Amino acid sequence: MNQLFARKPLQVLLAEMEGGNRLRRILGPVQLTSLGVGCIIGVGIFVTTGAVAHDQTGPAMMLSFVVAGLACVFAALCYAEFASMVPVAGSAYTYAYATLGELLAWIIGWDLVLEYGIGAAFVANGWSGYFRDLISMFGLQIPTALTSAPFDFDLQTGLLLRTGTLFDLPAVLICVVITAILVKGIRESASFNAAMVITKVVIVLFVIAVGAFYVNPANWHPFAPHGYTGLSFFGKTIWGQQNAAGKPLGMLAGAAISFIAYIGFDSVSTHAEEARNPRRDVPIGIIASLLICTVLYCAVSAILTGMVPSSELETRAPVAAAFRQVGLSWARYIISAGALAGITSVLLVLMLSQPRVLLAMARDRLLPPGFFGAVHPRFRTPWKSTMLTGFVVCLMAGLLPLRFLMELVNIGTLLAFSIVCGAVLVMRRTHPEAERPFRAPLVPLVPILGILMCLLLMFSLPWENWLRLGVWLVIGLAIYFGYGRRRSLLNPRAAATGGR
Ligand code: ALA
Repeated sequence: MNQLFARKPLQVLLAEMEGGNRLRRILGPVQLTSLGVGCIIGVGIFVTTGAVAHDQTGPAMMLSFVVAGLACVFAALCYAEFASMVPVAGSAYTYAYATLGELLAWIIGWDLVLEYGIGAAFVANGWSGYFRDLISMFGLQIPTALTSAPFDFDLQTGLLLRTGTLFDLPAVLICVVITAILVKGIRESASFNAAMVITKVVIVLFVIAVGAFYVNPANWHPFAPHGYTGLSFFGKTIWGQQNAAGKPLGMLAGAAISFIAYIGFDSVSTHAEEARNPRRDVPIGIIASLLICTVLYCAVSAILTGMVPSSELETRAPVAAAFRQVGLSWARYIISAGALAGITSVLLVLMLSQPRVLLAMARDRLLPPGFFGAVHPRFRTPWKSTMLTGFVVCLMAGLLPLRFLMELVNIGTLLAFSIVCGAVLVMRRTHPEAERPFRAPLVPLVPILGILMCLLLMFSLPWENWLRLGVWLVIGLAIYFGYGRRRSLLNPRAAATGGR
């Protein structure tokens, strides 16, 4: 029982940083911010905005982004405090291990698999859609059988439908390419990412600057056709409207979905071990990337809903389509290419982050260290788990119906964020003396608001997600009790044999 709540001492974490099996320290503040932006701007702004504004929020989507962004800011301040205190790989998992004990650390690590691994599969799927859109402009087409997963999920009936296809070839190919880049090394990954990030930020600015001339303020009325709420409690809508299938509608419900657009800022903290000056640069990277994206998202949603009435927004490639709808067809090429670059860099960072969380868990012997802890002797990358991540993401992206997984990724990430906020509160009490190069302001208010905002968004998601999250956690706990608990270095018997 004691082991479940055993904490990994902060001194041990810091001492581990001195060993030989280290990743290379080559990332500065600009690269870290770029990694953050690289992981943030992608499917959330280029794809899901159309469906959110069309189905749930109308122009009030701009406020949905503010609400979701606010939840992230509170969580980001807590992340930044931890990242500056515990600058090692592993992110929220590591922080939880130092503060809340092994069981919650395992839960959060398992939760991050949901965020990064399944999130990557979802993003690869979005990539495939834009890729097909782009090549179709040049008259090229992929055989229908290779364009999508063999099943899809009907959101209204909850049933699986056959699509008549075999698998999603572009999604699989992009995952293979990204995996190869990641195995070769972080330096290459960071420069590849920087090029992608610059491209997509330029495209987003293009959308804002050019789109602004085509805004018709009349399109912003009514501003919130489904109201400003949309809160349900395990299937019962308790505040606001719902659709025919009982799913919550309104600005808050839109915020819970739009939240996916912000997922990724926390991945900056998973690179703490590769940062040149982690105590200063990781907090800068987290907060700067989040602020940049919040401003861009609010501006893009204002422009999008101002250019085209929300009820006429397309749901597959809404940003490119909006320009076509106002007569700027040429812009579709630029926007689709930019979206593709944007989504590629998201995929890169998600697939970069996943093996680093697994690496941290393997070092603690919660996962087999020979596999998940292996750092390549020449490339200095966690190559085995990078390849495994690539393989699993390929399978999911190619074969599984991923639409419904988006909500699962959101609820899992919101849970992780609330645990991080809670951990800041605990750490301030248990380790008041620890050095905190960055301190979250207004503690306990900021972490408490972070937890409340995350819970609010979790309850604004359709209730089935709680069920899916529960199933996911049960599988995770089975692995922990079947393997990790017995091998953990915090288990006295396992420690005596070096975790074997
Ligand atoms: N924030 C990431 C995206 O929107 C997951 O693609």
